[in-house]
Amino acid sequence: MQKTSLTGVKPTGVPHLGNYLGAIRPALRLTEQYEGLYFIADYHAVTTERDSKLLRAQVYDVAATWLACGLDPKTTLLYRQSDVVEVFELAWVLSCMVATGQLERGHAYKASLDAGEAPNAGVFYYPVLMAADIVLYDAHVVPIGADQKQHLELARDMASRVNHHYGEGTVVVPEALITEAPLVPGFDGQKMSKSRNNGFSIFLPEKDLRKQVMKFVTGSESLEEPKEAKGAVWELYKLVASEAEQAELAAKLAAGNYGWGHAKQDLFEALNRELGPMRERYTAIRADEPGLDRTLEEGAEKARVIAKRTMQRVRSAIGIGR
Ligand code: TRP
Repeated sequence: MQKTSLTGVKPTGVPHLGNYLGAIRPALRLTEQYEGLYFIADYHAVTTERDSKLLRAQVYDVAATWLACGLDPKTTLLYRQSDVVEVFELAWVLSCMVATGQLERGHAYKASLDAGEAPNAGVFYYPVLMAADIVLYDAHVVPIGADQKQHLELARDMASRVNHHYGEGTVVVPEALITEAPLVPGFDGQKMSKSRNNGFSIFLPEKDLRKQVMKFVTGSESLEEPKEAKGAVWELYKLVASEAEQAELAAKLAAGNYGWGHAKQDLFEALNRELGPMRERYTAIRADEPGLDRTLEEGAEKARVIAKRTMQRVRSAIGIGR
């Protein structure tokens, strides 16, 4: 049996280049090795999002993004978290397996308290719902960045406790797949991030994409000087160009009479080659909300089959129902 890999994405709009190269592209490559489950964590967004129109729109944005980036809904499940309500039933069961003290030590909850906010109970409960997202689908691995490590530890803990009390094999204990996400530099050479505002959306029109690429910091050598292949432009180029192209660019830089402006032009072309077809697909897919709803509903139907099977096992094991 092929192992399953599950990825949850919070709906936060169209991703920037760092999200794409650092998370989306590596996650899609995993579908070659694993049976993939991808869902949009719309109920997780309700902990903070109060704009209902925006939330609904961002779910479509995320779904269209993944599809445009190459997710094939025939072989990989793509669904809304909210379309499979069994997740709340399992979340309750899992909440009875975790000490409140463990949740009190949760990163997100503590960060909110430290910031002087008054976090709602959803923020406190967030790791439980996330554990249910995973355990409900018998996921073997969950590819995560370092920021989600603690959440996954909690999920493993809750799942192990179910098995400890009710028998091995009642649920699957998930494993973290810590992905070595490549560091994607932003304009200033620091990691590209929304909060630093040093990056750009992956679906920009070609003209705007070129303008954005020209913003990256570079060395200040003169045109004639030979240059070392390093810095943000080079790092990005490595992520989108073939080995032969990389060798060629390094040679041009080393030879002199080739400026960073030229290198940016080469970078733009390599980026546009990868992003151009995705941009076109995105525009078409995003414009068809009924089509997106159909795709998401088809995914949810298959997801519900797995969810119902897990819940039957869990209910029977813990003594609920006849
Ligand atoms: N917590 C994740 C984030 O903030 C999103 C998420 C929700 C998730 N449920 C999940 C990720 C289950 C992996 C598995 O990005």
